[in-house]
Amino acid sequence: MNKRILISCLIVCAAAAATVYGEDKAEADLKSLKEAYAGKFLIGAAGDLRGYSSDELANIKMHYDIVTPENSMKPQPTQPTENNFNFSTPDAMVDWCMKNDVKVWGHTLLWHAQTGRWFFEGPDGQPASRELALERLKKHIFTVAQRYKGRVVGWDVVNEAIDDRGTGRTENLRRSSWYTAVGPDVLTQAFKWAREADPDAELYYNDYNIEQGAVANTGKHASSMMLLKRLIEEGAPITGVGIQGHWHLDTNLADVEKAITNYASLGLRVAITELDVTATGDNSGEFNVRGGGTIPEENYQKQAEVYRKLFEIFLRHADVIDRVTFWGISDTRSWRGRQNALLFTGRLEPKPAFHALIEAASKNEAAPKNESAAKNEAAPKTD
Ligand code: G3I
Repeated sequence: MNKRILISCLIVCAAAAATVYGEDKAEADLKSLKEAYAGKFLIGAAGDLRGYSSDELANIKMHYDIVTPENSMKPQPTQPTENNFNFSTPDAMVDWCMKNDVKVWGHTLLWHAQTGRWFFEGPDGQPASRELALERLKKHIFTVAQRYKGRVVGWDVVNEAIDDRGTGRTENLRRSSWYTAVGPDVLTQAFKWAREADPDAELYYNDYNIEQGAVANTGKHASSMMLLKRLIEEGAPITGVGIQGHWHLDTNLADVEKAITNYASLGLRVAITELDVTATGDNSGEFNVRGGGTIPEENYQKQAEVYRKLFEIFLRHADVIDRVTFWGISDTRSWRGRQNALLFTGRLEPKPAFHALIEAASKNEAAPKNESAAKNEAAPKTD
């Protein structure tokens, strides 16, 4: 092949590649998610950052204001056995964030999962007494929250305390080891210690499916309202509610919007803390359990529409929403592996959902200001 033909071939190939990947990538390079939503709410992602490639770290710097450690600040990893604390992964993660001007959100201090059995074991093989369990909890909260004081914006103090499948007529608290060892007041106590340990941190109650039943005032949403009212009455220093947002193609969006306004009516701030929307139409969600087949291309368009509608809701309520965090940065950095629930592919290519969110933000900017948008501007966030 002579030199001119070879050069022509290279130009044609490069142009073809640019059409397949390059245009999208070039466009994404110009648009940053966090810049698109600046002044509305923080955009976040979950990740422990250990072992992340330089491309993944660059993606975080470009698109996200704030990172939540996906696992490394939980009770089991931070205190696997009594008094043996391990902070190597979260310390490195927080250091990287501080150096790169990325904020950090703490997750989580009190949870039924990823918590060492030793918290609940007493001497002589007996269950720990209420006093012993509380003493251990206090030490754990003080040690972890004080270590990151001034470096985290806030904490998911209590995670997932409400059980599934309740009617909504009671708080329906999960009968966890904490509940058994201490009782329902353990939740209030955790908030009080977190406040003492870090007086400036925002303190959140965080749970999944707590929007479900909001319109009809039933189910897990009704239980969450009951629980939050009690926590407030008992003097728990609670700043806000984290609606986790593990959603799917048929998620009830009316419930999502009503839940946001219901929580705001209690005087609480709201965050979407663990957002992902499965592209499989399946909500099992867990660790590759289902959804292993090929995902039809049209599902990615449907997924983009669900994300767009969700962000339209969040923008309408930007006056009470502080943060929207995705639970991972890409379809391979996701607990919902193979359900392709996030905005970027494993190769960090932006998906239709990413473009839909950039578009939703710019349409919102361009739209004539309605009454509620004007109100948002008149009453700036107080936090
Ligand atoms: O740390 C061990 C490692 O030593 C071992 O080699 C490896 C082998 O599989 O497992 C590692 O632990 C895993 C851990 O993630 C860290 O990768 C656990 O098996 C696995 O169960 C754990 O899953 C995490 C899950 O919480 C635990 O319940 C997910 O990554 C994490 O995304 C998920 O996050 C939760 C939120 O905290 C609360 N809301 C729901 C959300 C999704 O489940």
